[in-house]
Amino acid sequence: MHLGRSPLTLQVLFSAILHTTTTTAADPSKALVSTPGQIAPVPAWNLQSSTKAGSDLAVLSRPGVDTSGWLHVNTSKCTLMGCLLEAGIYNDTELFYSDNLRKVDSKQFEVPWLYRQEFGLDPRAGKYFHLLTHGITSRADVYLNGKQVADKKAQAGSYGGHTYDITDLVGETNALVIQAYPTSYYYDFALGWVDWNPWPADNGTGVWRDVEVKQTGSVALGPLRVVTQLETALDNSPANVTLKSRAQNLEKIAVAITVTGTISPEGYAGQSITWSQTVTLPPLSITDVTLTTTIPKPAIWWPKQWGSQPLYNAQLSVFVSNNTLSDQASATFGFRTVTSKRNPFNDTTFFVNGRPFQVLGAGYAPDMFLRFSPTKFESEARYVLDLGFNTIRLEGKNEHPQLYEIADRLGLMILAGWECCDKWEAWSYNQDLAVLTPVWSEEDYGIANASMFHEAGMLQSHPSVLGYLIGSDYWPDDKAAPMYVNALGSQDWQTPVLASASRRGFPAFMGSPGLKMEGPYDWVPPNYWYDTEPSGSRLGAAFGFGSELGAGVGTPDLSSLKKFLSPVDLTDLWKNPNKDLFHMSTETSSFHNRKIYNAGLWKRWGAPTSLEDYVQKTQITDYEATRAQFEAYAANWNSKRPATGMIYWMLTGAFPSLHWSIWDYYMHPAGAYFGAKVGSRIEHVAYDYVKKSVFLINRSLDKEGARSIDVQVVDASGKTLYSNTVKTTTKPNTSKEVTSLTSALKNIKDVVFLRLVLSDPSSKDTEVLSRNVYWLSKTIDTLDWDNSDWFYTPVTKYSDYTALNKLAAANVSVTAWSRGRGPKGHVGSAVRVTLENNSSVPAFFISLNLVDKEEKDVLPLTWNDNYLTLWPKEKVTVEVRPLGTVEPAAVQVVGKNVKGTTVKVG
Ligand SMILES: *[C@@H]1O[C@H](CO)[C@@H](O)[C@H](O)[C@H]1NC(C)=O
Ligand SMILES: *[C@@H]1O[C@H](CO)[C@@H](O)[C@H](O)[C@H]1NC(C)=O
Ligand SMILES: *[C@@H]1O[C@H](CO)[C@@H](O)[C@H](O)[C@H]1NC(C)=O
Ligand SMILES: *[C@@H]1O[C@H](CO)[C@@H](O)[C@H](O)[C@H]1NC(C)=O
Ligand SMILES: *[C@@H]1O[C@H](CO)[C@@H](O)[C@H](O)[C@H]1NC(C)=O
Ligand SMILES: *[C@@H]1O[C@H](CO)[C@@H](O)[C@H](O)[C@H]1NC(C)=O
Ligand SMILES: *[C@@H]1O[C@H](CO)[C@@H](O)[C@H](O)[C@H]1NC(C)=O
Ligand SMILES: *[C@@H]1O[C@H](CO)[C@@H](O)[C@H](O)[C@H]1NC(C)=O
Repeated sequence: MHLGRSPLTLQVLFSAILHTTTTTAADPSKALVSTPGQIAPVPAWNLQSSTKAGSDLAVLSRPGVDTSGWLHVNTSKCTLMGCLLEAGIYNDTELFYSDNLRKVDSKQFEVPWLYRQEFGLDPRAGKYFHLLTHGITSRADVYLNGKQVADKKAQAGSYGGHTYDITDLVGETNALVIQAYPTSYYYDFALGWVDWNPWPADNGTGVWRDVEVKQTGSVALGPLRVVTQLETALDNSPANVTLKSRAQNLEKIAVAITVTGTISPEGYAGQSITWSQTVTLPPLSITDVTLTTTIPKPAIWWPKQWGSQPLYNAQLSVFVSNNTLSDQASATFGFRTVTSKRNPFNDTTFFVNGRPFQVLGAGYAPDMFLRFSPTKFESEARYVLDLGFNTIRLEGKNEHPQLYEIADRLGLMILAGWECCDKWEAWSYNQDLAVLTPVWSEEDYGIANASMFHEAGMLQSHPSVLGYLIGSDYWPDDKAAPMYVNALGSQDWQTPVLASASRRGFPAFMGSPGLKMEGPYDWVPPNYWYDTEPSGSRLGAAFGFGSELGAGVGTPDLSSLKKFLSPVDLTDLWKNPNKDLFHMSTETSSFHNRKIYNAGLWKRWGAPTSLEDYVQKTQITDYEATRAQFEAYAANWNSKRPATGMIYWMLTGAFPSLHWSIWDYYMHPAGAYFGAKVGSRIEHVAYDYVKKSVFLINRSLDKEGARSIDVQVVDASGKTLYSNTVKTTTKPNTSKEVTSLTSALKNIKDVVFLRLVLSDPSSKDTEVLSRNVYWLSKTIDTLDWDNSDWFYTPVTKYSDYTALNKLAAANVSVTAWSRGRGPKGHVGSAVRVTLENNSSVPAFFISLNLVDKEEKDVLPLTWNDNYLTLWPKEKVTVEVRPLGTVEPAAVQVVGKNVKGTTVKVG
């Protein structure tokens, strides 16, 4: 295993670079931008450490400097580690294997690094040029053509986006140098990782977002803001739209401009509207231009589960004398409203288009080297929606404009905000910082202020944005809070702004954010979530709005584990249950091992007998944990103290992780995924482990009528102990308790299975809306609430599932056949799999894994159901759709009491 390349390889690499870097243009047709309003990112970079390149930026930023010995990356943005990976100096397959990440030399990043590129422009009288940054980590000096554009005081913070007028500096050939300074998470406004994962050796330093060049005429526009005003009646009423932008007159004379607005519906029939107005701008002034119109019949944008996602394109163009275009700004927007209210318990409820919106989702993590791929994010967003979630939370990881564009298009809500636990929350009253960080200086407020202005401008128009949390664990102080709120207001922010994600405190003028952050983050049993009484004292249980919480699960399945763990690491997993593990949270965190999780697994399921046995038991544990959490919150939506929202901690890891994930780094969905997916069904029946009752859940806005629920209980030998059909009706957007199973579950000998099947009796073939199987032991786990810690609640007596290790073998026949290519977004062939249990015993926890002809996992993909438990003689058909282009060849099948087989796709 070697991480660096040999000098020979480097030399080859560098000589290849020579060709690609000498193409800079004196030829104006090669200009990076050439028309007014045009904007383009610097498309690629040459990169070098200041120890090698020196730091005479005035010299290095003159055109013609020989950078043949520098690294070259053909990407517009990358952190230093991201660039080194891109350039092939490191290889992530190797870095992520075992603890190889430790071996990356972080000393090399303790000095500034230089990003350099040459590009052509065509400067002439009347043309103006601007350099746009969107945040450089942590600080940067910016030089163009031998002159300083900005110093590291001005260009500070990962979200410090600025526009610099470079008109007087540009020529036909231009050389840009950005010197990025080393980052400390405690002293700089960066993108920190807290305890999520080991920190990248470069602390994320560098040009992580695009740096852009823009050409305009004498009047330049800022980002376009779109303000919508809707009547409560929505589609049947006209809506007002105001387009706003900051117009800057770059000349010393007053100018009369014509501002033209255009609004056109995207992708469906509907009329475009264009209108104009004339404004006079004083010399060298900055003025907000504002254009309002009315849309008679706006198409309303909804979150995915509630409707469609019609989008509109808005454009604002500025013409100066003689009808010459000077600049334009555009944005995509949708007609929807988001509001929030605190209920009598001070818990926040969100409303989308006036409908109470129960937030169900998870906390997003970017790649640890901040490599952002729109294609990958789109697959992730499809997973989130496939799960039945409606929201993801970004904690200080606001990513790039494409993330919001994808979310707008797919109907996924984004709860964005600032991060905890470092410089961003260096308040005198924050007792939780690992290192004493000085409270903010005047300069720090300036950086945070600029960051808020920039992010607000980037997010403002997107219908997917649910709100902004200006604090996470702690609320901003009395100077920062109004500063943030004013910055958002000045950018015409239209969705809720909350002071933090916790109940620790709040600025008086904002009131309580109405979100709770009281754990858990590590394993708790399924009944934890339903244990809500006495009201308000049960930490993360299903009441109120939990901003980040979960049972800590998300164990990758074996095929993924083998990609990043060595044979020794794999053995440790099941033979050393208390061992500290690299592929979890950081060394100093409470989550650096699986002690709490494994204690439960060992006690409830018995000591594992092999790696395979351990991994199977983890999948059962993970499924049970996420299902209960999502079900409990959904079930308690209309309880006395309603569960108004929940963000599972977390969606997925920034690197291959053993915990805190709904799916793993390789996008293989396993136990945690399918438990969460069952628990988040739009129409669903769930079992409350504490009340021993059944809840009917309806998260739709448009499904109602008669429903029937088939309830059956069988013992481990398959004998029916209870059978009943409950008739009821369902109402949109409500949950209710429909029946008690206290007597049905009275005499459990060791373990029983409970199956709930929800169907619509009025539909043809009595369509099954939800099928849900539980395994229940004689007693539930006993929680010791009084000894809860911030990250979990201990269990004093565990459930005993060991009888399930002795289930008689079930004989299940499996067939799999191809359904041909699916609709847009599903590229490979869909496959249907039919499972039939030929035995008189239940077939417990059957996992299905789709593989290609080399027996490699086909990923990403969506299964409509997986990890199935079949009743004696029951037959079930499920479907899987690959999201990529790999053709499926076979399905690997294995269950707790079902022998493993591989079935060819016919
Ligand atoms: C750089 O990337 C662009 C866009 O992906 C591609 O068109 C171009 O060919 C690449 N150039 C080199 C030198 O690899
Ligand atoms: C990274 O390393 C893996 C395993 O050694 C290899 O299969 C893969 O091709 C390498 N990737 C790149 C981009 O070189
Ligand atoms: C990364 O940040 C940590 C915490 O602030 C600091 O101790 C470390 O030196 C930094 N690493 C580099 C390479 O700057
Ligand atoms: C739209 O603007 C008009 C004129 O100001 C106003 O009367 C009307 O109430 C507005 N409509 C909405 C939905 O706010
Ligand atoms: C105005 O536009 C016309 C036609 O494009 C052009 O011939 C003329 O030179 C322009 N005048 C000025 C003052 O720019
Ligand atoms: C809700 O918060 C307010 C302060 O914002 C407080 O006065 C009130 O007592 C709280 N109510 C409950 C039920 O906690
Ligand atoms: C934030 O920036 C705005 C606009 O530049 C300015 O008016 C305001 O005073 C700043 N607030 C702080 C606290 O720096
Ligand atoms: C949920 O509500 C929708 C909309 O009213 C209705 O069509 C559907 O039948 C309901 N489902 C359940 C399970 O209540």
